[in-house]
Amino acid sequence: MTDVLYVNGRWTTTDERVLRVEDRGFQFGDAVYEVFKFGRKRPIFLLDHFHRMDRGLHEIDIRNPWTESSFARTIDELLERTAFDDGIVYIQVSRGESERAHFYPDDMKPTAIAYSRRFRFPDDAKKERGIRLITAPDQRWTQCHVKSVNLLPNALAKKKAQRARADEALLLGDGVVREGASSSFFVVIKGRVITHPLDEHILPGVVRDRVIGLALNSKIRLDERPLRETELFGVEETFITSTTMGVMPVTEIDDRVIGNSRRGEITGRLQRLFDDLELSEISQQRATV
Ligand code: PDD
Repeated sequence: MTDVLYVNGRWTTTDERVLRVEDRGFQFGDAVYEVFKFGRKRPIFLLDHFHRMDRGLHEIDIRNPWTESSFARTIDELLERTAFDDGIVYIQVSRGESERAHFYPDDMKPTAIAYSRRFRFPDDAKKERGIRLITAPDQRWTQCHVKSVNLLPNALAKKKAQRARADEALLLGDGVVREGASSSFFVVIKGRVITHPLDEHILPGVVRDRVIGLALNSKIRLDERPLRETELFGVEETFITSTTMGVMPVTEIDDRVIGNSRRGEITGRLQRLFDDLELSEISQQRATV
């Protein structure tokens, strides 16, 4: 597939093989990534993604090759060069290239890449119908707040979900429901929305954060607290959130029906509020500062 690709300050396409074998992202999973959405060539929540990436890079001792403004300029140029109006951008920053050794040299030059890609976002029918989940043990490392490219446990859990004809795996650890393999997780119990608190067990989802803000502004009661596995099957509503899925109702978990197997009322309200928020981002001015 030919897509516009940015690599360390140069423009090419994804047809070019740009990485060296000894890039540490390839050999050690020594890298972080981001995925954001764009519409009408406008990036959505760009700075939220930039700041999460910046924090992640700092945590794993990689220098951020971008500042906020040089990042916004790179993305503006990427979207200008892109042949389509809507899609996703994938960003990855690795520690860079060096002869393979666990000890990495100081002052390495990071490898920064960004490319845009078409994406089929869920349509209205799917957003109403919702999705099915299976549960799976959380086998990830203990620093899940860093969006590292070490996605093997996530990929294996998602494959297990696919084989069970479900859409997403819900990761459980220490008797607590954490998050989806590539999404944040919410339930509604007695009219209150509940989601896992921010800590090292979950990714601080950009959509999660926006949805919490929308709930609070709309006087929807919300608690950030761990949800015990045993509470899972008494819930009224469930949904996941992510950049690619937005607010997505969940109607079944491990073949057990949630609520009345339809999109719940609070889920529907938050979904509409979130879709409107995305639209308002798209109509704003360019992000370049
Ligand atoms: N995944 N939790 C995990 C483990 C994720 O991988 C993601 C996103 C989220 C939701 O984060 P956000 O709202 O910022 O998209 C939560 C992306 C989309 C991916 O891996 O493709």
